[in-house]
Amino acid sequence: MPSVTLSTSKPTTTRADVLILGIRGDEDKGDLAETLELLGFSGEKGQTVRFPSGGVTAAPVVIAIALPDEPTAEDLRRAAAKGVREAKNARSVALALHPAGVDEVEAIAEGVTLGTYSFDAFKSKPKGGTKKAVELASAVILTPFARQTTATKAVERAATVAEAVNTARDWVNTPPGDLRPADFAESITAHVNSTAAGSDVKVSVWDEKRLAKERCGGILGVGRGSDSPPRLVVLTYEPANAVSHLALVGKGITFDSGGLSIKSGPGMSTMKIDMAGAAAVVAATVAIARLGLPVRITAYACIAENMPSGDATRPGDVLHMRNGSTVEVLNTDAEGRLVLADGLALAVEAKADRIVDVATLTGACVVALGERTAGILSNDEEFADTVLASSRSAGESMWPLPIAEEMKQTVHSSNVADLRQHNPKPYGGALFAAAFLREFVAEVPWAHLDIAGPSFNDGSAYDYTPNGGTGVGVRTLVRLATELAGAR
Ligand code: BES
Ligand code: ZN
Ligand code: ZN
Repeated sequence: MPSVTLSTSKPTTTRADVLILGIRGDEDKGDLAETLELLGFSGEKGQTVRFPSGGVTAAPVVIAIALPDEPTAEDLRRAAAKGVREAKNARSVALALHPAGVDEVEAIAEGVTLGTYSFDAFKSKPKGGTKKAVELASAVILTPFARQTTATKAVERAATVAEAVNTARDWVNTPPGDLRPADFAESITAHVNSTAAGSDVKVSVWDEKRLAKERCGGILGVGRGSDSPPRLVVLTYEPANAVSHLALVGKGITFDSGGLSIKSGPGMSTMKIDMAGAAAVVAATVAIARLGLPVRITAYACIAENMPSGDATRPGDVLHMRNGSTVEVLNTDAEGRLVLADGLALAVEAKADRIVDVATLTGACVVALGERTAGILSNDEEFADTVLASSRSAGESMWPLPIAEEMKQTVHSSNVADLRQHNPKPYGGALFAAAFLREFVAEVPWAHLDIAGPSFNDGSAYDYTPNGGTGVGVRTLVRLATELAGAR
């Protein structure tokens, strides 16, 4: 992770390997005007050109990035990330992106740390030598606000949040055979205990025996087919000055084969991502604690591996859930809602004021909103609006979907149990899943984030989004806790 600092120096005189220079449409391009024109720099948002400065700036290389006339925080987060990704062999960069205020400084700092992310844990080291790819060690953000404490604090906040996003990405990218339920639970415990939040966040892990004692039939039913039994990890952060109590529930399927309702080969090829919701809620909880926000957090990572076996849950089986209700399983590939249901019931028991769950829940949500937008489904319009506003200010694309009225009846249409888990009709899958989850949140204001699309980028990197796990959800949750704390 590069160190990020602030400076009031001028772009032209700042020493760095690369100067990342934002250029707004209406701006006087000074000594660079001719070079930019010859390079075909049109100023279209996001366009970048890279060239040797020839002494015009103290940095030997310039990366010019086109910005809109009044860039938003998100424009700058993207530009900063794009800049550092283009500055491939640089050990130091200076960013002159014209932040209009402290929020924009924070976004640039986030963009730097998010944009330099890479996942190399499973790549062999280059043979026979110590020659390593050059890593960015330092980034200096040029701004007249550099000496203000609010700006320094913003950079610290950005580091905390971006590191949390990168932690979630690491978990999602880890191969599923290396992150089975017990491994994931251990990794979460180790992570919490090794961060600055360690003393403020308590971790407890329920193994399969404890889950049985606690009647968590949803989590156990999904984990039943795997040789690696399920886990529930509970994180609690209880600051003395808490103004509200937010529960976070994450889907933590370390691998989703579909179970006996087995997926196709291509369908399961990326299913290591199916724990991205749990990764996001854990990483966000650590960030919220490190930021010292006055909001009590209880987070549940509902972890299981969904596998077929001679003893796996069958379509037609009935599960006895934590909240006392019974559920007829009709498609073992719709497993996320079953593990979440127990987590949601526990959140209600913990008397949370509000609940958010985060889950790679349905392919239907990807069909509805595409690969880059998460769905927000809720039982409370006001809370849904708050979550949507948090996602906007965090720069994560989310959009509300309704829980259509008719879904309730279908959820209650099992002939043998209280609820049916799967809709026989193939329409509105994201809505039906949410209608099912709603049965487990009682009257508590709740929002469900279906991140099946944006949790993973199977293409190449763009802006601050790398290939692989994206860490989506973390920034929205931290922003939401900040809003609930009234700290912004
Ligand atoms: N984990 C999947 C959803 C998913 C699909 C996540 C694509 C990311 C990308 C989930 O458990 C699942 O398999 N859902 C089924 C539900 C269906 C059987 C009702 C689906 O969406 O097909
Ligand atoms: Zn599934
Ligand atoms: Zn799944």
